[in-house]
Amino acid sequence: MGWCLKQRMVLLGAFVTWLFATASVAELARFKEYPSKAQKSLNFLVVGDWGRKGTHNQSFVAHQMGIVGEKLDIDFVISTGDNFYDDGLTGVDDPAFYQSFVDIYTAPSLQKTWYNVLGNHDYRGDVEAQLSPILREKDSKWLCLRSSILDAEIVEIFFVDTTPFVEKYFTDPEELQDHSYDWTGVLPREAYLSELLKDVDSALVQSKAEWKIVVGHHTIKSAGHHGNTQELEELLLPILEANNVDAYINGHDHCLEHIIDNKSGIHFLTSGGGSKAWRGDVKPWNQEELKLYHDGQGFMSVQITNGNVDIIFYDVFGKVLHTWSISKDLNVAAI
Ligand SMILES: *[C@@H]1O[C@H](CO)[C@@H](O)[C@H](O)[C@H]1NC(C)=O
Ligand SMILES: *[C@@H]1O[C@H](CO)[C@@H](O)[C@H](O)[C@H]1NC(C)=O
Repeated sequence: MGWCLKQRMVLLGAFVTWLFATASVAELARFKEYPSKAQKSLNFLVVGDWGRKGTHNQSFVAHQMGIVGEKLDIDFVISTGDNFYDDGLTGVDDPAFYQSFVDIYTAPSLQKTWYNVLGNHDYRGDVEAQLSPILREKDSKWLCLRSSILDAEIVEIFFVDTTPFVEKYFTDPEELQDHSYDWTGVLPREAYLSELLKDVDSALVQSKAEWKIVVGHHTIKSAGHHGNTQELEELLLPILEANNVDAYINGHDHCLEHIIDNKSGIHFLTSGGGSKAWRGDVKPWNQEELKLYHDGQGFMSVQITNGNVDIIFYDVFGKVLHTWSISKDLNVAAI
């Protein structure tokens, strides 16, 4: 009987593990984009740290995004978070949604889906409002999830909610004196983070996409004001390295930046120049790794084809600051 119980427990254990694995795979919402152009190229823009009702050159950056967006016939836009300053949205009826988003990104080329993640400033407001389908009814290009996956055939993009990783937002007395964070849906934090890491890891393991890109608000590696985010270096970076992720794209530091990690070869791309920039706020960094640091406003474009990813950074005037091409030998077998 003892044996029997033990066997049943093993079976039960296996069942629970299976349930858990199945549940966790289904956890992250999935979206699909079909590359529409010839040769399956896929183009998108990336902007971050923007929502300031048009001020701090937000409108100028938006204007240039419209021009580049049209030229590249973009498929969608990625926002790396800090969508609404200073404290997110007050609710679904906050006029800031119009003042900082709908009435700013008006160019025809930008009327494509915006995949938004949340930044730390967004967590200081009503987070559920940004996630609400009501905003999508107000403006159909708006789409915001905490974490999700975008499957665009040649590339899979994994959006990760990075704010809950940062310890100081939960424990630093100064931080908590000045700001209140809306952790609805995040607590208990430990469980939230371990589930998320597990989901991202299993989704990356299963991904068959040629290119894998991870997007989050916070930096992993940056020479900017905030610098590296230690929690992400410890918890998320090993998952990116183990799964041969090509690039990690973030905002948070209000600059444009390109670092190629000399160990893993991962490209760390900061596009946080959507409005207020931090002039001169840069730390020393290995010049071999730091390919671009621009302490002004701007944005980035990404063009993906089979075997090739082209990255371009633009300043507030739409001037090209930096280009980089990543190639992969696909070894496609000849028929
Ligand atoms: C807007 O951009 C121009 C050109 O880079 C710059 O001179 C100016 O300081 C910017 N304004 C703000 C408020 O950042
Ligand atoms: C790689 O980069 C790190 C961080 O910038 C630096 O400390 C290290 O010396 C570099 N290693 C090589 C081989 O360049």
